[in-house]
Amino acid sequence: MTKKILVLPGDGIGPEIVTEAMKVLNVFVDEGSLNIEAEYAHIGGAGYDAEGKPYPKSTQTLAKAADAILLGAVGGPKYDTLDRPLRPERGLLAIRADLGLYANLRPAILYEELASASSLKPELVANLDIMIVRELTGDIYFGQPRGIETLPNGERRGFNTMVYTESEIERIGRTAFDTAMKRGKKLCSVDKANVLETTELWREVMIRIGKDYPEVELSHLYVDNAAMQLVRAPKQFDVMVTGNIFGDILSDAAAMLTGSIGMLPSASLNKSGVGMYEPIHGSAPDIAGKGIANPLATILSVAMMLRYSLNQPELATRIEAAVKQVLAQGKRTGDIYTEGCEKVDTIAMGAAIVAALRS
Ligand code: NAD
Ligand code: IPM
Ligand code: MN
Repeated sequence: MTKKILVLPGDGIGPEIVTEAMKVLNVFVDEGSLNIEAEYAHIGGAGYDAEGKPYPKSTQTLAKAADAILLGAVGGPKYDTLDRPLRPERGLLAIRADLGLYANLRPAILYEELASASSLKPELVANLDIMIVRELTGDIYFGQPRGIETLPNGERRGFNTMVYTESEIERIGRTAFDTAMKRGKKLCSVDKANVLETTELWREVMIRIGKDYPEVELSHLYVDNAAMQLVRAPKQFDVMVTGNIFGDILSDAAAMLTGSIGMLPSASLNKSGVGMYEPIHGSAPDIAGKGIANPLATILSVAMMLRYSLNQPELATRIEAAVKQVLAQGKRTGDIYTEGCEKVDTIAMGAAIVAALRS
């Protein structure tokens, strides 16, 4: 059956990396092992430029009909002074909320060829394989009230609300426990229960649903300690589960352990298995248009799409093997470059993955 893929390149390096990722996906179409229909639409600043909104209605209609979505990145300095509802980031939050993509899986895996590109010593990251399960449609990102108001004395006050309902915590908790059951059966829940009531409830719910998963070893860390442990001894972790804001921050930190933020893919899933796939990094305005961005996080996001939404685990494994093979050939974009390797640009990296898949 033909699957509908919606492609949302977005802003900055988004179009550059998505172009390479689509070449990779099309290898399978060309060889006859995948049947897809790809449509393109605007999101983020590109949506604002084309239609005046970061999540245009036309994009929404296509998104609701898609089996899977591939997204590049959104945002850029040119949009930073727009009214907040018009900003690119709001478009991303809107599509996540609109499709109910509450479960964000962010795997941090070290390809052994990149051990020397990691910010940690090789022995601390050898065989690193962590799955961060980040809640994606709640927390301080969406809580009301929010805003900036002027006080009677003329001073302005900014405010946001951290909020989670028990059912929101429970559903992401179940995703995390189910994930742990398929892996090393260790789950670390990250919160700030010593200070924040929202996360006190978070911890309570995690402990409660943990009773349904007696085989999973559940532990808890405060987020400050979790950040420290991630850079002290990351291999103690198997699956981590946390809220939207903590997960955002911890996954960027975890990315560096694998060599670069340009290596981390993600899957954002809803109840019905529809997924959006995107690298965890942003639009990288500092390198946009230079053709040097690392496309591997986006290419690995395509692998996650094949695994989680298109029911093609073998094709996913082939992409991951191709990435490994190309890294073993010594090819590196600038962000993962170390001495003695061959520096390649975005297009050459994409072409190398395509060649590895075809060989
Ligand atoms: P960023 O992730 O875009 O960039 C951080 C640093 O990492 C930069 O030095 C960048 O050059 C580098 N980097 C990121 N991806 C790379 C890649 N694939 N290859 C090589 N280097 C890479 O974060 P930022 O600079 O804080 O944010 C820039 C813009 O992106 C902002 O507008 C922000 O809101 C947005 N953003 C979007 C997303 C998303 O679309 N999911 C995620 C994060 C940030
Ligand atoms: C991410 C990004 C987004 C987030 C921003 C751009 C809204 O940082 O996908 O990690 O904070 O979720
Ligand atoms: Mn982020």
